[in-house]
Amino acid sequence: MTLKLLAPEDYEAFKRIRLEALRMTPEAFPSSEKDWAALPDEEWRRRLTNNAVVVSFRGEEPVGIMGLMPQQAAKMAHRATIVMVYLRANERGGGRAVAMLDLLLEHARTLGVRQVELAVSAENPAAKRFYLREGFQEIGRIPGGLIHEGREIDEIMMARRLVA
Ligand SMILES: CC(C)(COP(=O)(O)OP(=O)(O)OC[C@H]1O[C@@H](n2cnc3c(N)ncnc32)[C@H](O)[C@@H]1OP(=O)(O)O)[C@@H](O)C(=O)NCCC(=O)NCCS
Repeated sequence: MTLKLLAPEDYEAFKRIRLEALRMTPEAFPSSEKDWAALPDEEWRRRLTNNAVVVSFRGEEPVGIMGLMPQQAAKMAHRATIVMVYLRANERGGGRAVAMLDLLLEHARTLGVRQVELAVSAENPAAKRFYLREGFQEIGRIPGGLIHEGREIDEIMMARRLVA
């Protein structure tokens, strides 16, 4: 298993695993595959410049991804949102997800991030349990936060402190 914090020139790997995630588990993400598939390469590179993205590789092949979006406003710069969490189905349950999270949080600390937050679909109990096991707490719920296939689904908000 190899883990990498991607640089903008690694955008091909980003593209491959992000589009796989949106295609394989569309119910888990607010974005659609269609929108991301239409992005020009310079936009993929730009997204790697603005956000930190960790990818897990099996050999040369990207099999998992996790991103970090730091808040921009000065008084919120100690917070960041975890996004794009995905691991290929046959790679699950083997510790790769925790390894990706550990590297992402190590990087977040170097940026001065004190708290990470995320939103998970209320209909995704496996992911929610993963986050709870990893020290996230449920902090709220957005009723009808997502509309997936014409149906409103609540979003669960979670947070984990990185400092005491
Ligand atoms: C969220 C995710 C990255 C967690 O990675 P993981 O390797 O499955 O993490 P864990 O090993 O902690 O397992 C999570 C759950 O999946 C179960 N699981 C284990 N091996 C599995 C496998 N081979 N296939 C499917 N599920 C498996 C685990 O038992 C656990 O369920 P439990 O809480 O009932 O015990 C991964 O499940 C995933 O990519 N899911 C699809 C995308 C997604 O939901 N993203 C979250 C968006 S907020």
